[in-house]
Formats: sequence, C-alpha cells, structure tokens
Amino acid sequence: MKKNKILVTGGLGFIGSHTVVELQNKGFDVVIIDDLSNTKIEVLDGITAITNIRPEFVQMDLKKKEDVVSFFKHHDIDGVIHFAASKAVGESVEQPLKYYENNISTLVYLLQSMTENKVPHLIFSSSCTVYGQADELPITENAPVKKAESPYGNTKQIGEEIIQDVTKVENLNAIALRYFNPIGAHDSVHIGELPLGVPQNLIPFVTQTAAGIREELSVFGDDYPTPDGTAVRDYIHVVDLAKAHIVALQRLLQGKNKSKMEYFNLGTGTGSSVLDVIHAFEKANQMDVNYKIVARREGDITAAYANTTLANEELGWKADLGLEEALYSAWQWQLKQK
Ligand code: UD1
Repeated sequence: MKKNKILVTGGLGFIGSHTVVELQNKGFDVVIIDDLSNTKIEVLDGITAITNIRPEFVQMDLKKKEDVVSFFKHHDIDGVIHFAASKAVGESVEQPLKYYENNISTLVYLLQSMTENKVPHLIFSSSCTVYGQADELPITENAPVKKAESPYGNTKQIGEEIIQDVTKVENLNAIALRYFNPIGAHDSVHIGELPLGVPQNLIPFVTQTAAGIREELSVFGDDYPTPDGTAVRDYIHVVDLAKAHIVALQRLLQGKNKSKMEYFNLGTGTGSSVLDVIHAFEKANQMDVNYKIVARREGDITAAYANTTLANEELGWKADLGLEEALYSAWQWQLKQK
C-alpha cells in the first residue's frame, strides 16, 4: 500500500520536530517545509537519529506564494500539519504586521494551494490563548473565544476562522488543536526546544537558570487568586502533544470526523502554579532553582487548564507523561546545549 505523504510546515520547530518523529514512527512519509527563521538545520539530524529516516526537507518561506504553488505542483500530498508561524507574544505587540504576514498570509497561500491541488486534510496549530481568561475552569472547547490580548493570539483566532470559512465551501476537513503549555524534550535528547535569545517562556528560563546561564528566575506575581498566589497553567509534555497530531490526522484520513472543522483542547487537565513547576523541577532533577518573586507580567492570565474529555473520548488520546517527567527531559536537553 502506498504510504500517506504528509507535509509538515514548521517541521523543524519545537512541536513540529517531535510530531515528525511520531509520524515517521507510524509509517507516514514526511516532507518538511521550514524557513529556519527560528530553528536550526541540525534538528533534521536529531529526527534522523531517532527514527533512522531522514525526512525530505524543503527550505522555503511560505510567504513566497510562487514557491508554495510550485511545491504543491511537484509533491503529491495527502494531508498537511501546519505549524509554521511566529509565536512570541511580546514581539507580536511590537511588530503586528510581521505576525499578520507570517501567520495569516502564509495560511491563505497554503489553503489556496491545498484546495487547488485537492489536498483535503489539515491539522492546524492553535492555542488555548483563544480562550483568554476563561470564566470557567477547566476549559472546554465550548468556552467562548475572547478578544485576543495580542496580535499573536489574534492570528490564532483569525487562522481558525479562515479555515472554518474555507471548509464550508471547499473539499477541506480540518482540525484545530488548541495547545495548552507544551514543554519538555524527546527522551532520546536528540530534539527539544531551541529558544533564541532570552527565553520568554517559563521552562526554558528555569532550565537556563539551573544551568547558570541566567542568574535568577523571576516569578511573575504571587498575588493571583490561586492556592499559592502564582499563576496556574496546564503544562503538557511535547511528546504527548505530538502524538495527538497523529490521531487527529488519522481521524481525518479515515473520515471519522463529525464535522468539517473540529476543535480539540490538548492539555493534561491538571493545573500547576509557577511555584509547583519550580518545585517539581527541583524534585525531578535534585537541584535548587534560584528565583525571586517580582510583579505580574502584563497580559498574563490567572489560570488556564484544559477539560480534556473531548480529546479523550473523540480522539481516544490522553496525555501519559507527567510534569516531573517533562521537567526531567527539559533538563537533560538543557545539559546537551553548548
Ligand atoms: C505564552 C503566551 C501564549 C502562548 C504560549 C506559547 C503570553 C501572555 N502568553 O503562554 O499566548 O501560546 O506562551 O508557549 O505570553 N513565568 C514566570 N517567569 C518567567 C516566565 C514565565 O513566572 O520567566 C510565568 C508566567 O507568568 C506564566 C507561566 O510562567 O504564569 C507560564 O508562562 P509562559 O511559559 O510564558 O506561558 P504562557 O504565558 O502561559
């Protein structure tokens, strides 16, 4: 039987690379498009070391529409997992047009080529950021989408809307996966997160502080209405997250989806505070993390964690790995960095 060929845009990024590994493990043929704007080509070696298969790689900027058109002319693609996007919240406030161009115009070109070439399956990287501070916890997929706090968040909302509009009139079936907070690294330590510059996200900052690269971790606020006063998130191991993409893709390939556009929360269902994370890291890795409490970070919400019932029941997927396992792998990955 011919293998399904899956295009993974942003396939050398953090979640993309872990998903490519899982796809190859499940026997899919993978072609990666990445412009290397926020990752390194060495990630391809990491994927190859884990799977013994070097995926086809095309270095390409999806903003160049002619290149996207030409790519689809020369590749027979069965489905697309679309990760490629800019993702720094603060930068998106400073440079909104960069975000609208990088995240929206590229999606439009991709969808145009997919529909023109009759590629009917799309998995879209979305985010729990679409819910803002939800009124009810844990957050179900029915929670209202709130006005975005940043241009980045807005690109995820608009992206979902664009895809939904297209599924109404074209032969396109799509699943938007709304990630909570992806962390950790592959247990082989061949791939992980590669933050460029000063990390904005909690876990890379924790590991860099533990490694002595940063002097001290700032905990942003201890006056939130949460059990210990620090903000609560749902941290999910990137390998669990990657596996969810495979089951979502198989759902589309097997025509098991119940509507042309579906939405799933991907989280563990457990909320952890910033202090919980620090203590879990200390326990998992038998070391102390130097931290101080500072003021809240602007734009941060109090608490977000997923109701995972829909993903559990419809996708037959649930997160298997715990916070300490994720933080252990994140530290092993940090130790490998020069
Ligand atoms: C952030 C984005 C979110 C995006 C996600 C991608 C914001 C407001 N939100 O989520 O839209 O989808 O990254 O990964 O930027 N923290 C500290 N000290 C630090 C860093 C973080 O205390 O040095 C705290 C934050 O205040 C927050 C928690 O750790 O409570 C998690 O922060 P982070 O990893 O940046 O993720 P989010 O803010 O949840």
